[in-house]
Amino acid sequence: MNYKNKTIWITGASSGIGEAFAHFFYRDGANLILSSRRKEELERVKTELGGDDSRIKVLPLDLADSKSLEEKSQAALTLFGGIDVLVNNGGVSQRSLFAETDMDTIRRLMEINFFGSVALTRFVLPHMMERKSGQIIVTSSVAGKFGTKYRSGYAASKHALQGIFDCIRQEMYEYNIAVTMVCPGPIKTNITQNSLTADGSSFGKMGSLHSDAMDANEMVQRIWSDIKAEKEEIYISSPKERLGLIMKRISPWLLNKILKRSKVI
Ligand SMILES: NC(=O)c1ccc[n+]([C@@H]2O[C@H](COP(=O)([O-])OP(=O)(O)OC[C@H]3O[C@@H](n4cnc5c(N)ncnc54)[C@H](OP(=O)(O)O)[C@@H]3O)[C@@H](O)[C@H]2O)c1
Repeated sequence: MNYKNKTIWITGASSGIGEAFAHFFYRDGANLILSSRRKEELERVKTELGGDDSRIKVLPLDLADSKSLEEKSQAALTLFGGIDVLVNNGGVSQRSLFAETDMDTIRRLMEINFFGSVALTRFVLPHMMERKSGQIIVTSSVAGKFGTKYRSGYAASKHALQGIFDCIRQEMYEYNIAVTMVCPGPIKTNITQNSLTADGSSFGKMGSLHSDAMDANEMVQRIWSDIKAEKEEIYISSPKERLGLIMKRISPWLLNKILKRSKVI
């Protein structure tokens, strides 16, 4: 897809991967709608992009506030008169053992990562279908393909995204709407600090798995040609996670043995 003059709605645009996406789409000539909860951080991203109000709008929203998302979608659709690309990127991870985790925390992970993204897609898709064009990009995860310790609710939410967007993709071929699932391994962002612990409070620190990883700009740079080519699944991870993805398909038993001994924080 050529993004020049297209309208891109990005969730989780205040930080990390979403912020990096905003820079790449903007450089390609797109108009942006930046969403997440923290208005001041979205304004910072807008200012760093040059602050052009005719090309960048800020639309704060909370993906956990399911009742507000239809209205937010209508607002997004009117800002530039339509949406060409929805980037479902906003999300939160987890650092807690399942047996210790409050059910409310599991539900919150599903609400933000799964239901939030699904709701925005549900409200925006009919407009893309009318135009017979569009692209839905979803930041899933390697955790959408296999699970590890401390990530039960997170991996469940990402597996659920994989499942629903596989179905949506099939339904959208006849409308010329592409579904692009991005499956990163660890990327150096605030994801670990913001991860939910058992009682729903933030983990608050960065683990070495992420502090030693590539940063979000490098990640988006590496996948940019695949994003523009509307590739259906994009993997961006270290050789270790890539091997894990292959083993999950050909020898899940062996993968489980290796994961049992692996550092996952
Ligand atoms: N970093 C990694 O290693 C990695 C690997 C695989 C997949 N991912 C996925 O990449 C996506 C982006 O994460 P990141 O790594 O860039 O982490 P990040 O820096 O923590 O960014 C998360 C973004 O999501 C937004 N967000 C969180 N809760 C929200 C809510 N309730 N409503 C609306 N927005 C919310 C945050 O903004 P506000 O706080 O302003 O709301 C922020 O913009 C996530 O879906 C994550 O699962 C990350």
